[in-house]
Amino acid sequence: MAESLSNFGRCTHAIVRDIPDSLGKEALRTGGGGGCCKEQQQQEEVVEVVVSPVDMARARREHDLYVAVLRQKLGLQVVELPADESLPDCVFVEDTAVVCGDTALLTHPGAPSRRREVEATKKVLEDLNFNVVEMTDEAATLDGGDILFTGREFFVGLSKRTNQRGAEILADVFKDYAVSKVSVTGTLHLKSYCSMAGPGLIAIGSSEHAQKALKIMQEMSEHRYDKLTLPDDEAANCVYLYIPSKGHVLLHRTPEEFPESAKVFEKLKDHMLIPVSNTELAKVDGGLTCCSILLNKKA
Ligand code: GLY
Repeated sequence: MAESLSNFGRCTHAIVRDIPDSLGKEALRTGGGGGCCKEQQQQEEVVEVVVSPVDMARARREHDLYVAVLRQKLGLQVVELPADESLPDCVFVEDTAVVCGDTALLTHPGAPSRRREVEATKKVLEDLNFNVVEMTDEAATLDGGDILFTGREFFVGLSKRTNQRGAEILADVFKDYAVSKVSVTGTLHLKSYCSMAGPGLIAIGSSEHAQKALKIMQEMSEHRYDKLTLPDDEAANCVYLYIPSKGHVLLHRTPEEFPESAKVFEKLKDHMLIPVSNTELAKVDGGLTCCSILLNKKA
């Protein structure tokens, strides 16, 4: 059964996972791996690619605050999984499952190094009595970061991590909803430059890549969405929740990180705005949505 739109953003539980020490040096990053690395270019020219090191203490402080917002400020029941040192990207739980209503599709992450992350998520979702569906087709790949659920339909980003077969399986599992595919260019995941900022409100970055993806989504949809255009693509990844005692809530990147985008968020007068720093996990391509799976468990 399709969820009622009035339930959009409602959530009672969140799954999060601690940051392993291995993240700093071994987490995947589009910039080319932890620390400094040398990349052989086509013309045999060797260039130095300097990537910013992750400040692990700061990453943990930021993540602790994110979890505290969900647990203490918003009153969610937070299931906190322990880190696994052999899974450097395991804090990014969003990629391991797509949950809608009482069905949870466990993903087959595009990066082979991330596939075992799904096991811990599976156990929690089973313990919480979700109808858990596994993606058993080895040819299918899908990361939760490529899935934008608007409350009315799904958009699936076809990216380096998510393929056609993964999108087909998602469409098969969530049959009550239209599922449209969007090519992801210029970034890791579809939600690296967009997310939902409220019911019917798409937050979208300003880059050419982000705007192209939005245009495709608008062309493919039967629905009309409002848009919230952020000057910074990274800031367009925000976390929307509807909490009955608080109303519309939005976790978004801080004015210190993205001053111009923060001004845009501040114009949302109906939302309780919660700025959350994410300077460190962003260095390994993590956005705010990446660090939780939000669940709405019916009483
Ligand atoms: N570091 C996040 C990812 O590459 O999946």
